[in-house]
Amino acid sequence: MPYHRVLLTGAAGNLGRVLRERLAGRFPVLRLSDVAEMAPADPGEEVVRCDLADADAVTELCRDVDVILHFGGRSTEADWDTVLPANIIGAVNLWEAARKTGVKRIVFASSNHVIGLHSRSERIDHRAMAAPDCRYGLSKAFGEDLAALYAYKHGIAALCIRIGSSYAEPADARQLSTWMSFGDLVRMIDVGLTADYTYEIVYGVSDNSRTFWDNANAERLGYTPRDSADRFIPALAGKTTDDPIAERTQGGSFSSAEFTGDPDALP
Ligand SMILES: NC(=O)c1ccc[n+]([C@@H]2O[C@H](COP(=O)([O-])OP(=O)(O)OC[C@H]3O[C@@H](n4cnc5c(N)ncnc54)[C@H](O)[C@@H]3O)[C@@H](O)[C@H]2O)c1
Repeated sequence: MPYHRVLLTGAAGNLGRVLRERLAGRFPVLRLSDVAEMAPADPGEEVVRCDLADADAVTELCRDVDVILHFGGRSTEADWDTVLPANIIGAVNLWEAARKTGVKRIVFASSNHVIGLHSRSERIDHRAMAAPDCRYGLSKAFGEDLAALYAYKHGIAALCIRIGSSYAEPADARQLSTWMSFGDLVRMIDVGLTADYTYEIVYGVSDNSRTFWDNANAERLGYTPRDSADRFIPALAGKTTDDPIAERTQGGSFSSAEFTGDPDALP
């Protein structure tokens, strides 16, 4: 791969720790960053503690970096005081630092919660209207639009991966639709690193027969998932909730939390 130094944000997190292990040795230098403490650097690694909300620190973090895997930030719903600095100010700081320091590509861990209020009965693709199901989902929608601005206007290519549920195994009936294995996550990141594109949105999901999403755009770019949640159907199909908004919408419990709207007005 034509990259010397790859920056991974969110390196102390669940996916960051998986990626640190699975990407080890793939690049001359893997720079790992998080606001939280990380294990010390192994050969071929650099460990830099940095708060994404600190613009100057983020500019230093991006120096001499060729490509960024942006996984850092708030990863679940929270109040604005938490979401704003981590995911909105943090994303602005990262893309602006990338522009200043000459980074050419960012692979962005977006989320299915960008479109979480869409109905499960609707099979949507990457062109569906944004319908965030929470403040966290809206911050990821902002990140996608920010990525588009910097891609088209400043030439920083971006692959926005709307990750479904990336865990070792799916945990409930909804995740039979949304699960992405760690192997498929790495395969999608490889697409992000190698495919020829300016700005793209794809769904981060394995080859699940119960998927909510038409992921033709990812396949067009070269993504071929090898895993599927289908073998968990017998164990998990009955693991639903008794919450009608959660069961109706793609975002599940993220949609139903704090819901005070009209269910009949949902997209
Ligand atoms: N795991 C999933 O299924 C899933 C699904 C959709 C999207 N994502 C996205 O993928 C990314 C990683 O997810 P995860 O499950 O590993 O989440 P995680 O919460 O385990 O990791 C996120 C990391 O970001 C760090 N972080 C938070 N605020 C920060 C800040 N201000 N500055 C620097 N670092 C900060 C945290 O310390 C944490 O280590 C997140 O962006 C998340 O939104 C994950």
